[in-house]
Amino acid sequence: MFLWTVLSLFCIIKYILHLTTARCKSIKNLTGKTILITGGNSGLGLELAKNVASRGCTTIIADKTDGAETVRKLIKESNNEYIFYEFVDFTSFKSVRTFAEEFKNKYKQLDVLVNNAGVGNAMGKTEDGLEATMQINYFSHFLLTHLLLDVLLKTPHSRIIFTSSIAGYVSNLNKENLKCYIHAALAMMSKTLAHKLRGTGVTVNAHHPGMVKTNIVSSMNKDGASYFIKFIQFLFWLWGMDTDSGVQTMLHLVTSDEDTTAEFFMNCKPFYQPPIVCNDKLRDTIWNLSEVYVNLKQEEKVDTVLNMI
Ligand SMILES: *[C@@H]1O[C@H](CO)[C@@H](O)[C@H](O)[C@H]1NC(C)=O
Ligand SMILES: *[C@@H]1O[C@H](CO)[C@@H](O)[C@H](O)[C@H]1NC(C)=O
Repeated sequence: MFLWTVLSLFCIIKYILHLTTARCKSIKNLTGKTILITGGNSGLGLELAKNVASRGCTTIIADKTDGAETVRKLIKESNNEYIFYEFVDFTSFKSVRTFAEEFKNKYKQLDVLVNNAGVGNAMGKTEDGLEATMQINYFSHFLLTHLLLDVLLKTPHSRIIFTSSIAGYVSNLNKENLKCYIHAALAMMSKTLAHKLRGTGVTVNAHHPGMVKTNIVSSMNKDGASYFIKFIQFLFWLWGMDTDSGVQTMLHLVTSDEDTTAEFFMNCKPFYQPPIVCNDKLRDTIWNLSEVYVNLKQEEKVDTVLNMI
């Protein structure tokens, strides 16, 4: 009897999850567009790269692990020769700066910036003295987005997409524990940036991809994870979806003709923002703190860049 209840509950939840997994129906041809995908050499990033490459998009995979083999494979599969790999190490602001510089020398436009690279639990401090997970997921993307702002502004109808998570709903982020709550921080960065860029033609949105089985989740287990983490991993194992399903909302944001901005997407449509994201004062404080943490120069701040063009 007990087993039967558990089993039917499992099936019902699985079925509901299946129902809520919207698919992006766009068949848009992306020839002539340029997309940059951080963490594009694995997981969701790679799935997105495959898809947009097959639509003719100039696809740039920025990753720490060598993407030469991925590029060869994608060029063959997609018949699109405009697929490139660029090295970047998100544990280092120096590397992010070098990458941004090289990017702007090589590519003259940027239609879509996908801030997707992320890790579950990188250990220890980086060379910049920050907690590694936070720097990889959050601070390096904060910096990269600033450094690429001029090229985004020069490209008509460009867009910035942040991979966040509904995990942002349960965080109690504040300026003291900024480092612990990445998903909320990403969603907050997305909203603040969207407000700052209103009227410029650049749209900014965050999204929750769903419970996707990528190595972010399995890597949370390195040295004796807590029961809570084990439980989360069990849920992912039970109900997690593959990267093809997980990439749909991101694909929707890339291909959509709407100029929606400052939203938090789930299932290919705007969803409620995590409550914390609506705290304007906190968002502002965290933004200002982030500028300090990444050593942003005055001339690199959004307001200065906007004044210069
Ligand atoms: C996209 O359009 C271009 C011409 O604009 C065409 O050459 C190409 O075959 C199309 N690609 C796909 C995947 O439909
Ligand atoms: C953040 O910085 C801006 C510009 O320097 C300033 O106007 C604003 O008051 C600051 N906000 C907070 C909450 O510190």
